[in-house]
Amino acid sequence: MDWHDVPDTVFERMVAVRRDLHRHPELAFEEERTAARIVAELETLGIPASYRGKGSGVIARLEPLKGGPVIALRADMDALPGEETTDLPFASTVEGTMHACGHDAHVAMVLGAAHLLAASPPGIGVRFLFQPAEERGGGARTVIAEGGLEGVTAIFGAHVTQHYRVGEIMVAEGVITAQSDKFAIDVHGRGGHGARPHEAIDAVVIAGLLITALQTLVSREVDPLHPSVVTIGSVHAGTAPNVIAGSARLEGSIRTTVPEVRDHIHHGIRRMARACADLHNARLDVRIDPGYPPVVNTFRESELARRAAAGVVGERSMVRPEHPSMGGEDFSFYLQKVPGCFMRFGARGEGQEYVPLHSSSFDIDEAVLRVGAACFDRLVREAVAFYPP
Ligand code: NI
Repeated sequence: MDWHDVPDTVFERMVAVRRDLHRHPELAFEEERTAARIVAELETLGIPASYRGKGSGVIARLEPLKGGPVIALRADMDALPGEETTDLPFASTVEGTMHACGHDAHVAMVLGAAHLLAASPPGIGVRFLFQPAEERGGGARTVIAEGGLEGVTAIFGAHVTQHYRVGEIMVAEGVITAQSDKFAIDVHGRGGHGARPHEAIDAVVIAGLLITALQTLVSREVDPLHPSVVTIGSVHAGTAPNVIAGSARLEGSIRTTVPEVRDHIHHGIRRMARACADLHNARLDVRIDPGYPPVVNTFRESELARRAAAGVVGERSMVRPEHPSMGGEDFSFYLQKVPGCFMRFGARGEGQEYVPLHSSSFDIDEAVLRVGAACFDRLVREAVAFYPP
């Protein structure tokens, strides 16, 4: 089905769901209302769904009793902290919470696909996975623990993005998102009077030195052909202009696409922290929290996704990225268990100015819901020939 041919009745239902979720965003692991809405929608389609309550995912099955291959379609449900600044009539009504990453659209398009697939069963099993907490906490692991992948042959998912216009789809095999890790460094010096530096160990000076030094990890020590980032996003120290700060805290994130580079940067951060500590007679504690692994699309499933996507938007609207995205995505946890492919659906409307994900003014052209539903629907139908029973 060409994406323009998604029936208006299905489109209108997707829009209604998306706007309802947009109005009532819920943060990671709190998606109770969202899940209830999803379960209710699935019920009207006659698709049985299970939901274990707050913090869980919604797992729905359109599967023949006799078994056989099963294609999983995944949508994430959570919103982000932050005040919405759009003037949309369906803007967030929850203070300090917003669907700034388009997960409301992901839910709507997978439900749209469920609608199309239930209306005309595809001859292969379909599992619908609505997961909590993509933004924080890796809710994919929760869905896996709840048995979401049991019996699944391959899994597919997508993210909306304003990088591309509505009607464009990006599919690529291999590494498409970076490994993202967080780190925190505590500088322990000795506080003192601002006029008597010789009696103190200034944590601010040590932090400043370290901030600059860490920038050389990527620029001087990593192969420029291996994309990587070290960002220090928060610095906290001190209480008053005339008091030497005895401690400081730096927090940052690391993005890498190659495991050896990741190891090198982790060691490099520790090495430089140690050196700064020695240099100034202070103590520095480094903590690195491993984040989401890279999303690695498998070759065969990327080919299936590409074929389906081209079938709904046309070959000329297929996009191939030159580089992986440095963003993180917990779809990677599924891909560590089963083959699959994560795509991107263009969501920028005609004449719309680019707005990045996570921005307080993020919005989509809702026509992308048609693209998503049509693409997932087609993918499942093409999968019948790909995975013989
Ligand atoms: Ni997202």
